[in-house]
Amino acid sequence: AEGDAEKGEKVFRKCRSCHEVGQEAKDKTGPALNGIVGAAAGASPDFGYSNAMKEAAEAGLVWDEASLAAFLTKPRDFLKGTQMSFPGLRKEADVANVIAYLAGQQAV
Ligand code: HEM
Repeated sequence: AEGDAEKGEKVFRKCRSCHEVGQEAKDKTGPALNGIVGAAAGASPDFGYSNAMKEAAEAGLVWDEASLAAFLTKPRDFLKGTQMSFPGLRKEADVANVIAYLAGQQAV
């Protein structure tokens, strides 16, 4: 389903305690997420990822819409051992919308 980026911006409020996007985005509890849609996993240069994320990155994980949807729905099921302590988004529409929002946040 096509996501709605404007609705996704509201969904992203749930992520902002740990993640930033935009010109001034920095790593916080979670890595900065500019350009994350289509990017290789675990690639924010100075962020201290979990071993689980490092291994997935080495195995070639790319954040396309399918992998992002799976991760954001149930982070710990998709990536056993992930450090992202977020239970996941329960509504399919929220997942699609936040991905659409992130797709508009280019790498800077
Ligand atoms: C990792 C998205 C909520 C903490 C990630 C990654 C994505 C993501 C795409 C992988 C980044 C990469 O490979 O560079 C989101 C979205 C959220 C959300 C869209 C809201 C729906 C949160 C929250 C926290 C958090 C609330 C903190 C409580 C982290 C951490 C990592 C991470 C620590 C690194 C995980 C690891 O190394 O295993 N997040 N996140 N995230 N996120 Fe989130």
